[in-house]
Amino acid sequence: MKFVVCENYDDMSKKGADIIADLIKKKPDAILGLATGNSPLGLYSELAAKYAAGKINFSKVQTFNLDEYYKIKQADPQSYYFFMHENFFSKVNIASKNIDIPFGDADDAVEESKRYHDKIAASKGIDIQLLGIGNNGHIGFNEPDDALSACTHNVLLTESTIEANSRYFKSADEVPKEALTMGIGEIMSARQILLLISGKSKAAVAKTLTDNFVTTQIPASFLKLHQNVTVLIDKDAASEMKIK
Ligand code: GLP
Repeated sequence: MKFVVCENYDDMSKKGADIIADLIKKKPDAILGLATGNSPLGLYSELAAKYAAGKINFSKVQTFNLDEYYKIKQADPQSYYFFMHENFFSKVNIASKNIDIPFGDADDAVEESKRYHDKIAASKGIDIQLLGIGNNGHIGFNEPDDALSACTHNVLLTESTIEANSRYFKSADEVPKEALTMGIGEIMSARQILLLISGKSKAAVAKTLTDNFVTTQIPASFLKLHQNVTVLIDKDAASEMKIK
């Protein structure tokens, strides 16, 4: 893992957007794995600004999102579908046929997970997977557990994630209890991984990434086994780490 300590959230967002913009310049039909949450919001704004300034063209780009609540309708303002359109897709020229997000309102979660997995597997492969990290070490919605799933699947959210994500809802009761998420295998099969970590509240989990072991109790620890991971981390989040 390559750790890049950033001055603050804005610096992290700019550096992340530069990495993605450079990739798209080199490979206009790049496949991006995208994430939701506060961590990538600034990066999305930076990319939208580059697009508005004519510095980047997304017309051939394809995207797969990491995860979605289950069950939730796309039009629900809390859905990740809504988040992505509001904060990114509506601001750039990615063709809607090139966008895929697990369908949170599918009748059958197993079938929808299989559809999503098959589509990723049939693609030319995710070039860069953007990730945030949960306070409990989750990536996507791969929650700490005795075993982790390789492929897209339906998960029960942990109390800690429901609590953490309740900041976006009126109350914790309104947070969906389940989600659909890419599995660890699909995340690890991306050619490059870009993990964004920001803020004091992530300092404890960030510190675990420098330990020399992997554990299913910290799903993000599996990223240590990937050959091409860049961690953009701001000073607050890096405050408990000893980066050599
Ligand atoms: C959510 C998402 C993750 C995200 C994480 C951290 O639960 N499923 O994909 O990385 O929370 O979110 P934030 O970046 O807002 O801290």
